[in-house]
Amino acid sequence: MAPLARNVLVTGSNRGIGLELVRQLVEGPDPPEHIFATYRDLDGARGKALQELAAKYPPVRLIQLDAVSLASVRAAVKEVDSQLNGKGLNLLINNAAVNSYATLQSVQPEEMISVFTTNVVGPIQVAKEFLPLLKRAAEEAGKEGLSCSKAAIINMSTKVGSIELCFQVLEIPMYPYRASKAALNMVTRCLAAELKDAGILCTAIHPGWVKTDMGTEKAPLTVECSVQGILSVLAGLSQATTGVFLDWEGKSLPW
Ligand SMILES: NC(=O)c1ccc[n+]([C@@H]2O[C@H](COP(=O)([O-])OP(=O)(O)OC[C@H]3O[C@@H](n4cnc5c(N)ncnc54)[C@H](OP(=O)(O)O)[C@@H]3O)[C@@H](O)[C@H]2O)c1
Repeated sequence: MAPLARNVLVTGSNRGIGLELVRQLVEGPDPPEHIFATYRDLDGARGKALQELAAKYPPVRLIQLDAVSLASVRAAVKEVDSQLNGKGLNLLINNAAVNSYATLQSVQPEEMISVFTTNVVGPIQVAKEFLPLLKRAAEEAGKEGLSCSKAAIINMSTKVGSIELCFQVLEIPMYPYRASKAALNMVTRCLAAELKDAGILCTAIHPGWVKTDMGTEKAPLTVECSVQGILSVLAGLSQATTGVFLDWEGKSLPW
C-alpha cells in the first residue's frame, strides 16, 4: 500500500483532531516520510502527547507555526523546506481554528475580527506561503490528475458553515465561527479553481461533531472514528472531488 502522501503538514497538531491525524498517519500501515506536526506552544499538558509521538516516531517533525503570524508561517516554511531537502510538500491540512459561541446579542466586532483572522486569514496565509513547496510536489509527481498523494490543500471546515444548511441548524448561533467557516469554504472553492491547473487539489472536510476541546464531551463522535473516516476520504480524492465539500464519511455537503 502506498502512503496517503509522502510529505504531509498538519496545522494545530498538539491536540484534538490535528493530534489524532498525526497519530493515525504515523501509526498506519504505510506512514509518510515526513509528517510536519505544527503547534503554537508545547508547554504543559497540551503538548505532551505530541512530544511523545515525535520522540517515538522519526517521521513526526515538530514545527512551530502560529497561523495568524506571517513571520511564524514564513519561519515554518523555511524549516520545512530545509527538512524536505529539495522535495515537495504533498499534503497541507489546514486544521487549526478557534470556535466562538457569540450570539447576535453578545457578538463584538473584535471577536468577529479575531475569529476571521484565525479561521480565514490563517489558512489563506499558510496556503499562500507553502504554495511553492506544494507546486514542487505537483511538478515532481509528473503524472496527470489530482490527488492527496500528488499535491493537495485540505481545509477543515464544518457543516455549520454551510449557508444552504443554515436554516436546519439555526439553534447554534455562533456568528463569528459560522461566518468564518462559510468564508473558508469560499476560499477553498477559489483555491480549487485557481490551483487545479498547477496540479493541486483543494477540498473542504467536515469532521463531524467530535469529542475534542472544541467539540466538547457532548459530541457523539470519537476523535479516532472521525479521523479514520477523514483519512479514508482523503485517500479517495481525485480530480472529480477538487473544490467540493465532504463530510468525514465522504458524503457531499452543500456549500
Ligand atoms: N470538534 C468538532 O466537533 C469540530 C466540528 C466541525 C469542525 N471542526 C474543525 O476541525 C478542526 C479541528 O478542531 P478540534 O476540535 O481539533 O479543535 P481544538 O481541539 O480546539 O484544537 C484546535 C487546534 O487549533 C490550534 N490553533 C488555534 N489557533 C491557532 C493559530 N492561530 N495558529 C496555529 N494553531 C492554532 C490549537 O492550538 P493551541 O493548543 O495552541 O490553542 C489546537 O491545536 C477545526 O478547524 C474545527 O473548526 C471541529
